[in-house]
Amino acid sequence: MSPAQCDLSLSLQNVLAYVDLSLHFFSLELSLLLSFHSKATKVLSLTIKSKAKEAFFLVVICKKKEEEDMPGIRGPSEYSQEPPRDPCFKVNAKEPFNAEPPRSALVSSYVTPVHLFYKRNHGPIPIVDHIENYSVAVTGLIDNPKMLFIKDIRSLPKYNVTATLQCAGNRRTAMSKVRNVRGVGWDVSAIGNAVWGGAKLADVLELLGIPKLTGFTTLGGRHVEFVSVDRCKEENGGPYKASIPLSQATNPDADVLLAYEMNGEILNRDHGFPLRVVVPGVIGARSVKWLDSINLLAEECQGFFMQKDYKMFPPSVNWDNINWSSRRPQMDFPVQSAICSLEDVQMVRPGKVSIKGYAVSGGGRGIERVDISMDGGKSWVEASRTQKPGRDYISEHNSSDKWAWVLFEATFDVSQSTEVIAKAVDSAANVQPENVESVWNLRGVLNTSWHRVLLRLGHSNL
Ligand code: MTE
Repeated sequence: MSPAQCDLSLSLQNVLAYVDLSLHFFSLELSLLLSFHSKATKVLSLTIKSKAKEAFFLVVICKKKEEEDMPGIRGPSEYSQEPPRDPCFKVNAKEPFNAEPPRSALVSSYVTPVHLFYKRNHGPIPIVDHIENYSVAVTGLIDNPKMLFIKDIRSLPKYNVTATLQCAGNRRTAMSKVRNVRGVGWDVSAIGNAVWGGAKLADVLELLGIPKLTGFTTLGGRHVEFVSVDRCKEENGGPYKASIPLSQATNPDADVLLAYEMNGEILNRDHGFPLRVVVPGVIGARSVKWLDSINLLAEECQGFFMQKDYKMFPPSVNWDNINWSSRRPQMDFPVQSAICSLEDVQMVRPGKVSIKGYAVSGGGRGIERVDISMDGGKSWVEASRTQKPGRDYISEHNSSDKWAWVLFEATFDVSQSTEVIAKAVDSAANVQPENVESVWNLRGVLNTSWHRVLLRLGHSNL
């Protein structure tokens, strides 16, 4: 039996049995020949070598066949194979893992290191067994459905887009102090700024015959749905999914990426290895991790996280009168800022205090201003804003990263206990709302109210 004759459906076990049998046969052959003629040993050793080689190829071929049948990525149903995480995280939920870094870590660099980037999950982290088998199926209302392998994505031009990802539930804990809300309790750090590397979705779709700047396919597709493999209880054990309009997906200026890198490194498991969607300027919920398929749909995705979550309701809506279909899924996030150099109640010594934080707006809008008040909102001072060190940030300028946050800073002399407030204004003159009460909603999303901390005079390291 030669490798060429090997039935590819042969299991690895069969092959190993064959190798075992062959070796047994060789040893019989060996003892016979040795007792017969010494010159035969050379012939025999060649025979053994070629038989061993044959068996080896057989194993390789059959193993390959078995591997080909294995999925590239799978979503486990329990949490025994989670990746290691930085011990500095504040863990808001263990299973699924939801954690944020200390707020001070966010202002130590413009680009958030991967190990300090918040993690927002709805199920166990998927496992990639065979990266060469990993593919993304592009299906639905498209003339030429196709399987894309990672090499197909990598063969397209690579873009590095600096974009801030923010969970819609960022600052939920403060909202829950007004009235109870449902959801993971986040402080101000469910946000991070990264350089995402990958192919533009507009290029991927063009590869499949959908031209740039298209709002609908010939078959009537108007939305692009992203489906993952993680198992979420909200989806009754099904995968996480979300969609964006086709017009956004095919617009190269929207910078929607199929990203395989984060800060110049291969994406790690927590953040979507091997491939995730990054939708800049939009709430993090639409940036689907561990991408498994892309579907062209006539309507937006009907999944839980689009239809029954991540929607903004008025304060009057409660769990008895909620009508989910009355609101659209949230997409762009509103203007936001938070002070990160101080905790909610911070002891300081009299003297200079530096107020540092982040400000960001959705939809690619820049940050026009960040105002700081040291007297509870009676008077305001404008903070300096930066993105890249050594270069002034100018809102809406070519030199600025339009999808990224700005870090702000202002220094004050403090001689008494006081309330410190930060509020940002974006390039469309949208301002953060003054009170959390006015934006309170039962799911606790989009708390963008003025960020307030209390400075107490006393003993401190600050
Ligand atoms: N994608 C999948 N497959 N599963 C998820 O649970 N969470 C979403 C989004 N993409 C999620 C997902 C939410 S709500 C957010 S805020 C971001 O991923 C968080 O991304 P990160 O964990 O990389 O920070």
